[in-house]
Amino acid sequence: MALLQVENLVLNFSGLEVIKKLGFAVEKGSIASLIGPNGAGKTSVFNCLTGFYRPNSGTIIFDNSSIIGRKPHKITQAGMARTFQNLRLFKSMTVLENVMSGMHCRTSAGALGAVLQTKSQRREEEKIRQVSEECLDFVGLLAKKEVYAGNLPYGDQRRVEWARALATRPKLLLLDEPAAGLNNDEKKELINLILHIRDSLGVTIFLIEHDMGLVMKVSERITVIDYGKRIAEGTASEVQNNPKVIEAYLGSEDENEAL
Ligand SMILES: Nc1ncnc2c1ncn2[C@@H]1O[C@H](COP(=O)(O)OP(=O)(O)OP(=O)(O)O)[C@@H](O)[C@H]1O
Ligand SMILES: [Mg+2]
Repeated sequence: MALLQVENLVLNFSGLEVIKKLGFAVEKGSIASLIGPNGAGKTSVFNCLTGFYRPNSGTIIFDNSSIIGRKPHKITQAGMARTFQNLRLFKSMTVLENVMSGMHCRTSAGALGAVLQTKSQRREEEKIRQVSEECLDFVGLLAKKEVYAGNLPYGDQRRVEWARALATRPKLLLLDEPAAGLNNDEKKELINLILHIRDSLGVTIFLIEHDMGLVMKVSERITVIDYGKRIAEGTASEVQNNPKVIEAYLGSEDENEAL
């Protein structure tokens, strides 16, 4: 069975069907992508997967369990982590504190424990710090751990989000437009980082991306949606040559050129 299996997913917003009977699977250990024109419903799919939106119907099986109706932090605990299309960092906290904040879903102590600080909680906090530093090292930001996140260049801020997601020790990492706002060198580094995360940490990756060069380079499987519906699925070359995909992208010159 696939690590993530979605079937007949439907999401409505006040009568508007944003996701229409969508189905796809992400195999364990793979790098897969979800693409489609602006407004196609990609982020909404991620929001359903991570418990931010509750779909109207359908099934989402993650790691052999249904996760529909679970709260976002429970889904994180189950092993799914994400980064956001728009950065969501605490700008007045340090890089390290930002990464540590992502791990509190994993601890038993919780917020009250952080205040009371028993011996075991101190040990837990120390462990969180250690894992957070490892993850910062992994994304190449350990040297900047004490810098306020808001003072970092944009590309580094995105890396903080990656470290925060990795610190939850995910089985599946969802990345919503990771290349947005990055320059060409940063995009090349991003490709290496995506491959490195999968190959050395064994994390399965599912990404949304408009940069077709990046998508085609890293993805083993691509699902294409338009108006909330799946219009194609396959390898990079299968998808690139699919007339339905070309037609869906015709409305958007940039994406059409990139394709
Ligand atoms: N909370 C919401 N309330 C109402 N409509 C929403 C909500 N979230 C998304 N939508 C609508 O759902 C549709 C799909 O939006 P979504 O953000 O999922 O698209 P997307 O494929 O991620 O687009 P982009 O490539 O621009 O990020 C849009 O028409 C959007 O307006
Ligand atoms: Mg989006």
